[in-house]
Amino acid sequence: MDFTIKLCAPEKQRGACIVVGVFESRKLTEPAKSLDDASKGVISNILRQGDMEGKANTTLLLHNVPGITSKRVLLVGLGKEKEFNDKVYQQAVLAAFKALSQTSAPDVTLFLSDIPIKERDTAWKITQTVILGAESTYRFDRLKSKPEKEQPALGKITINVSDQASLQAGEKALKQGLAIARGIKVAKDLGNLAPNICTPTYLAEQATDMAKAYDLKVSVLGQKEMEKAGMGALLAVSRGSHQPAKLIVLEYRGLAKMEKPIVLVGKGVTFDTGGISLKPAAEMDEMKFDMSGAGSVLGTLTAVAEMKLPLNIVGIIPATENMPGGNASKPGDVVTSMSGQTIEILNTDAEGRLILCDALTYAERYKPDAVIDIATLTGACVIALGHIASGLMSNNDQLAQELLQASQLALDRAWQLPLWDDYQELLKSNFADMANIGGRSAGTISAACFLSRFTAKYPWAHLDIAGTAWRSGKEKGSTGRPVPLLTQFLISRANR
Ligand code: BES
Ligand code: MN
Ligand code: ZN
Repeated sequence: MDFTIKLCAPEKQRGACIVVGVFESRKLTEPAKSLDDASKGVISNILRQGDMEGKANTTLLLHNVPGITSKRVLLVGLGKEKEFNDKVYQQAVLAAFKALSQTSAPDVTLFLSDIPIKERDTAWKITQTVILGAESTYRFDRLKSKPEKEQPALGKITINVSDQASLQAGEKALKQGLAIARGIKVAKDLGNLAPNICTPTYLAEQATDMAKAYDLKVSVLGQKEMEKAGMGALLAVSRGSHQPAKLIVLEYRGLAKMEKPIVLVGKGVTFDTGGISLKPAAEMDEMKFDMSGAGSVLGTLTAVAEMKLPLNIVGIIPATENMPGGNASKPGDVVTSMSGQTIEILNTDAEGRLILCDALTYAERYKPDAVIDIATLTGACVIALGHIASGLMSNNDQLAQELLQASQLALDRAWQLPLWDDYQELLKSNFADMANIGGRSAGTISAACFLSRFTAKYPWAHLDIAGTAWRSGKEKGSTGRPVPLLTQFLISRANR
């Protein structure tokens, strides 16, 4: 897919297809009105006949409209004008791409970016369009012996803007969209890969390749180095696996060395069987997505490097499998974390927090401005927030607000849960400084409470993406979330 930005009148646009929006109650957008005038009322006639009502998520394809140079016109429903907002815009653009993929139109011009949306400018609409275009054509077929279907014909997408100023801002927005789309794809591909391929070693290799491509600094700690650093919690998780654990560190420099970095820590459990506290068999395959936090860190760093953002960013990925076996950790084992605090492992399936706590202690050496960890951490988060919002918890309200704002702007939703000290007692252990589980109630919060004991030295936020990182069922696959949220957060940081 190739994107360009242009300024042109819809009725004069040549090519295979143009796309315009119509609201409910036969209200035409400006470009639709121009087409209606040029065609002497063809569009308003169609609306009057009721063939298209302008409802959100509907489209109608027209051929050979008189007075118009484009071969086809795709009408996209925008719903009620009063209710039109960023979310409806997103759905309309997705519906348009879906309809276009069922035509054989090789080149398309979209006239959707000058419909006003509260608090969203043209640049936002362009960035979104690029991301949604990539979303709608994403396929993961590299593990099939032959590609499933032919690639869709859609090759060239032109995004029309209505004035000269938007043209310039649009170029930047387009580049930003392409960078974010690429980052999302990195996260999706890693998540979708089979767990016999996407191992901790594979993640380390990908990070090393990325470092070469984007001129980042990379270091990978192996078993010995982690032992030396005292990462007893992380190593307790990897004990049962034949795949060696890795601690992957990537450093992106967009500012002078002395500037404090933002550190992103991504849970990289490349497969979570639960260990000795074994998970049930049903849908266990989905635990290949348990490295989605790691994938989102690599994806976000890709986007950041593509955009050359003026920030310093460090990505830290503790990567391991969680397997049962003769050498695996057992319920009741007590281990010493890198911080010196001891942990009683009451459930080996609460492994994410064990690898994160050592990575979070390791993060201290970068004297971070802020640390954000991203993890498919608790099934409880899926119960609380479903597959719509990621859970957000933080020891710093300003950081939490920044992340919430970014999530709204990126339409990559997050919702804050409390992290009051009242919850800390859930983690009490009779035999160690803390237990690694807090019982059934408030499972998402007690997991964050556990992490908070390792993050007192810096502003920290935790994103629980257990419900948002992938889809189950027929549409099973990685969503690439929360790369949109994280990249938007960093873009806003770079601009502040
Ligand atoms: N990776 C899982 C969390 C998970 C479960 C994400 C289901 C998405 C869907 C995590 O390692 C885990 O197993 N958590 C346990 C914690 C419990 C033992 C306290 C959970 O949520 O059941
Ligand atoms: Mn687990
Ligand atoms: Zn897990």
